[in-house]
Amino acid sequence: MNTPTLSYRQVIEEMLGEKAFAFIAKGRELAKKGYKVYSFGIGQPDLPTPDHIIEAGIKALREKFTGYTETAGIPELRSAIAEYLNTRYGSDVKPDEVIVTPGTKGAIFLAIMTYLRPGDEIIIPEPSYPAYSEISKVLGINRVFVPLKWLGEDKGFALPIEEIEEAITPKTRMIVVNNPHNPTGGLFEPRQLDELMDIARRHKLMILVDEIYDNFVYDNAEFKSMISYSDWRDYIVYTNGFSKTFSMTGWRLGYLVVRREVAQHLPKLAVNIWGCPVSFGQKAAIIALKGDWTPIKKMIELFRMRRDLLVEKLRKIPGFEVWKSKGAFYLFPRIKKILDETGLDVEEFVNKIIDKYHIILLPGTAFPDKAGREFLRLSFCTDFETIEEGTQVLKKAVEEILSTSKR
Ligand SMILES: Cc1ncc(COP(=O)(O)O)c(C=O)c1O
Repeated sequence: MNTPTLSYRQVIEEMLGEKAFAFIAKGRELAKKGYKVYSFGIGQPDLPTPDHIIEAGIKALREKFTGYTETAGIPELRSAIAEYLNTRYGSDVKPDEVIVTPGTKGAIFLAIMTYLRPGDEIIIPEPSYPAYSEISKVLGINRVFVPLKWLGEDKGFALPIEEIEEAITPKTRMIVVNNPHNPTGGLFEPRQLDELMDIARRHKLMILVDEIYDNFVYDNAEFKSMISYSDWRDYIVYTNGFSKTFSMTGWRLGYLVVRREVAQHLPKLAVNIWGCPVSFGQKAAIIALKGDWTPIKKMIELFRMRRDLLVEKLRKIPGFEVWKSKGAFYLFPRIKKILDETGLDVEEFVNKIIDKYHIILLPGTAFPDKAGREFLRLSFCTDFETIEEGTQVLKKAVEEILSTSKR
């Protein structure tokens, strides 16, 4: 093709990432046509940002805090983030080791762009949130996927520690750890994180840590933040953000923490890409961290109750193996029996459920690479009524699909 504007890089076309959005968009289309749609697709809290945070954003706007800010974020916010992490996780992060970014996605992008060179290898436990893999792909970094361990309905998912170590080659530079985990809802045991940290120390590798769901931990399960290791500066680039905890997905605010010698250079990269994080949002983010956490705690308790209901209902559906997730706001049931009996693959199954029954689920294959092919992701960012009714319709749908399957 000679037309210059059509000679874009092929890899852009090959990126994954809109897969989840495509299924959600399908749901929106159906709703527009007047159908009752039950959505378990969405990956953001369905509650709005708490009022006191919104008010702080409005106040900043009224005070005309509308210009560019420091590229790394305003000093008060960088301090507030360091203080939050240190108070909570006993770490010793300094404000000048914090870079505020447009969303956690911005932080992930900076981390990968800063550390990996074309031809390097990044180890990604899969299924996985797509950004690590897709940004790597665009930058010519080789992705090595290692499947998480599925331990069954009682135990859920574990990090494949031995397999990760076996996957290391001289080209490996980074291992990704997202904990609590999207899409499985997994919460990795502190012992496993210790083992992973040992691997990083022995092989001199970096760990890209994404703890965006660190407040969504249920049943008093133990969550260990990897920023709490005393030698984090040697091995860790840490990312987190405001989207999930404070229901601020549209505000686009995240952050990256890395040792000072590197952090001081990151604004040079960031200023050339986005200039600075959103100005008034940063003022609101300070209030989010330092203000009243009551609405957040209430939201998390509400999510726990929804999870319990969703687990109870899904376990009544034939062919569903449901582990009660311990973190984030997702369930990741295994439906291998249904796929085996019907001969459908998970995407065909999901499409059938959406098209005929108007229930939005995501196929595990929306989360690279292939380990999710026997699983579905359901988000419980939805009300009790949708959970009650949606699972009833889903049960009927599965029974119908099973009874008409040709195998
Ligand atoms: C694991 C994980 N990391 C990062 C993000 C990106 O969040 P943000 O809205 O802060 O860019 C998400 C959003 O779904 C996520 O699930």
